[in-house]
Amino acid sequence: MWSEQSCPPQWKGKGSMGALVQRFRREHALVRRACGCLATLADDVQGGEPLDMGAACDLLRFFELFVDGAHQRKEEEVLFLALLRTGRMTQRVGELLGEHGHERRGLARLRESLTLVASGAQQSAERFAEVAVAYALAQLEHAEKEDQLLLPLAEELLDDGVQADLDLHCAAIDRELELDSRGGLLRTVASIARDRGPCGRGAQAGEGFGFELPEG
Ligand SMILES: [Fe+2]
Ligand SMILES: [Fe+2]
Repeated sequence: MWSEQSCPPQWKGKGSMGALVQRFRREHALVRRACGCLATLADDVQGGEPLDMGAACDLLRFFELFVDGAHQRKEEEVLFLALLRTGRMTQRVGELLGEHGHERRGLARLRESLTLVASGAQQSAERFAEVAVAYALAQLEHAEKEDQLLLPLAEELLDDGVQADLDLHCAAIDRELELDSRGGLLRTVASIARDRGPCGRGAQAGEGFGFELPEG
């Protein structure tokens, strides 16, 4: 059983928002924006318009490289691991890991359905729209759960010094993947967000991202 006494001193929180938590909140803002774009593409198809294949491929690449390949990897290898070490988060982290698995299966379905659209299979765009909406909803619910339930506990349990250390691990993963957090992938999503529907209507570059995105 976890107790304040059994928690190593370096894991005791000071209640202030540290670098690691800020990083994940920024990344979730970007995930939300991309989910909005994906839902807009699905709306267009369900309204009888052709699928914008260019935007769909860019978003798929974003979800594969940034969300699955980088963001969720950083959660699994850095944040979740640190929270498990506190001894308090086993069940919650287990639930979230299960959702990552569900999202990876959804991502595979998204890629398969987009491949079918590209091959010209009949009714494949409608299938893509269904899969896209389900995937976007799952990602939005997951990010909300992490923002509302997980990150406040991370702030409480991991002090600023620990968060700063773990944030360096996250930055190393981004470098390993050659994914500068202000790099091309994020500019691509910002550009789709500016051009399309409710995800970008009236929005300035970087709005909702928690930082200024460079113009690409
Ligand atoms: Fe997650
Ligand atoms: Fe997340």
